[in-house]
Amino acid sequence: MKALILVGGVGSRLRPITHTSAKQLIPVANIPVLSYVLNSIKEAGISEVGMVVGATATEIRAAVGDGAQFGLNVTYLQQDAPRGLADAVLISRDFLGDDDFVMYLGDNYVVDGIVDFVEDFRRDKAAAQVMLARVDDPRRFGVAELDVDGRVTAVVEKPQDPRSDLAIVGVYAFSPLVHEAVAGIKPSWRDELEITDAVQWLVDQGHRVGSTVIDRYWKDIAGVDDVLEMNRHVLETVEGRVDGEVDEASELVGRVVVEAGAKVTGSRIVGPAVIGPDTVVQDSYVGPFTSIDGNCRITHSEIQYSIVLRGASIEGVARVEDSVIGRETEVNAAPRTSTAHRLVLGDHSRVRVGC
Ligand code: G1P
Repeated sequence: MKALILVGGVGSRLRPITHTSAKQLIPVANIPVLSYVLNSIKEAGISEVGMVVGATATEIRAAVGDGAQFGLNVTYLQQDAPRGLADAVLISRDFLGDDDFVMYLGDNYVVDGIVDFVEDFRRDKAAAQVMLARVDDPRRFGVAELDVDGRVTAVVEKPQDPRSDLAIVGVYAFSPLVHEAVAGIKPSWRDELEITDAVQWLVDQGHRVGSTVIDRYWKDIAGVDDVLEMNRHVLETVEGRVDGEVDEASELVGRVVVEAGAKVTGSRIVGPAVIGPDTVVQDSYVGPFTSIDGNCRITHSEIQYSIVLRGASIEGVARVEDSVIGRETEVNAAPRTSTAHRLVLGDHSRVRVGC
């Protein structure tokens, strides 16, 4: 069995972070989202991985390489434009050969991986298997209908009037029959070859399409709130550990990771939180659900429920909250007498200013 990971999207709802980095490489608890995907695939006993890349191919290659660091063998497959999830299967035909494969959207995160899902697919010997989860607003997703045996009877992409609350999670398993399906469908109204249409094609041809309904946490990362929510969930699972230096005047409360080379002085850190390698936290408060990556400087500041990327600095800022701070970014305090805001912001930035 092989795996196909799709990382072609541009991540428009995560600008400006995605101007300079692929959204699948945004760190959550200081580990890129894509690493969680790769680890799940390895854990499911798969080692041959096709990575369908688009505009962000260079960054993805730099981060993942040949996959050896994950115990995987990664082949890159270039998609020339975002023509849909089924197009990714089409262009991967030679790589996939006649093997079964798992298709995993690289911006999805499923707690506790996909081992049960792959086992279900193998046991059912279905033409395809979809992972499903109950959601409050199914209109944002592909939606499945099942018969009493859990067999898929219909799938519809982002329906106005959903006929079930079972959303398609971005993890699928396919037999080689899917190649006939993707060749048999036409582009949708948004001019994309939809994988949902390929699954429906299999159903219409009388093939068995199975389902695994999960009730554990999962997230598809579209916007900033999704990344922060995933960060909170992952930090809940982190064990405290101090490999760096924490001085006598500092206090760590709860599960806090201080990586090697990090220095915490005169500060209070309330976990769960991670402080990356070679980061300095000085005379500051770091509150719960905060991930600070390597080589950052947090001085005379307060921060919580946030993600700070590599090399950023925050100096003299009373409270930063619910924020994602990009790489090499500087956040400073304005002089106290001034009520003016001086802003140097990249395209698509979002800033909330207190008045
Ligand atoms: C895609 C699929 C959709 C699925 C979703 C899961 O949607 O087309 O069926 O429910 O991923 O993340 P997209 O994110 O491309 O809008």
